[in-house]
Amino acid sequence: MKHIISPLDFSVKELDDVLCLAEDIIADPKKYANVCNGKKLATLFYEPSTRTRLSFEAAMLNLGGNILGFSSADSSSAAKGESVADTIRVISSYADICAMRHPKEGAPMVAAKYSRIPVINAGDGGHNHPTQTLTDLLTIKNLKGRLNNLTVGLCGDLKFGRTVHSLINALVRYENIKFVLISPEELKIPAYIREEVLDANHVEYKEVSVLEDVMPELDLLYMTRVQKERFFNEEDYVRLKDLFILDMAKMEYAKDDMLVLHPLPRVNEISTEVDNDPRAVYFKQAEYGVYVRMALIMTLLEVEKPC
Ligand code: NCD
Repeated sequence: MKHIISPLDFSVKELDDVLCLAEDIIADPKKYANVCNGKKLATLFYEPSTRTRLSFEAAMLNLGGNILGFSSADSSSAAKGESVADTIRVISSYADICAMRHPKEGAPMVAAKYSRIPVINAGDGGHNHPTQTLTDLLTIKNLKGRLNNLTVGLCGDLKFGRTVHSLINALVRYENIKFVLISPEELKIPAYIREEVLDANHVEYKEVSVLEDVMPELDLLYMTRVQKERFFNEEDYVRLKDLFILDMAKMEYAKDDMLVLHPLPRVNEISTEVDNDPRAVYFKQAEYGVYVRMALIMTLLEVEKPC
């Protein structure tokens, strides 16, 4: 039985297989309408979510399966003090697979230890978000045509942004990837990512604090929201939240085929005027999230691909 706690739980080959399956689903979704008949997905969300939870649920429903779950810690027995270990022991007999989002780093990993069904990490604190990474990779592969030879700008909250941490972990395994890390001093990438992921894999990167200066060199710009819920005080959040705002004036500096991605939700970091630029693909990216989660559920449940 396989769990997905980090993007590294898949080899590059396994990851490519999931992306290929997602592409086949996009090409002919009807073919997959009944492959998970009788199967149940539990969504255990201890933290707010729109896209991740609903795209998981839509994915299972599209496959002919059923869904159950909770969307906040308050509405679950966590509010009474139940541990993640006890919850998952019980859910294991109610569902065939589960997706868990939790504010504590490592909670889905603990769940996996006690679980009798595959556990998918749907975001654990400021740590990892592997299914967002699958979504990002599918978007890049489809809209850019490749996962190698890319200069990738990551902008905003690189300290607390779990989507950024997971995406870096996944992309360093492809050929000739360069990173441009754009953030204020206080929100720079954590040292463990710099040392254990970037340096350890001899990946080229630079850290800068002005977005305009680096725009012309980017193939992709991955914008992120400043993660308000992970700040210790409101004052720091207010000071940092609007430092990077992508608008059409900045887009002028970008290549004609640079893509703008964002895991969403967007707050102020991308001006709505950018939405109409063909290079802005963040809503398409959210759509891809459903297909890639369909492919992931099928893979973890070892469901045969229909002919
Ligand atoms: C992200 C998350 O939860 O980390 N959202 C998502 O799943 N698409 C990004 C964010 O909340 O900023």
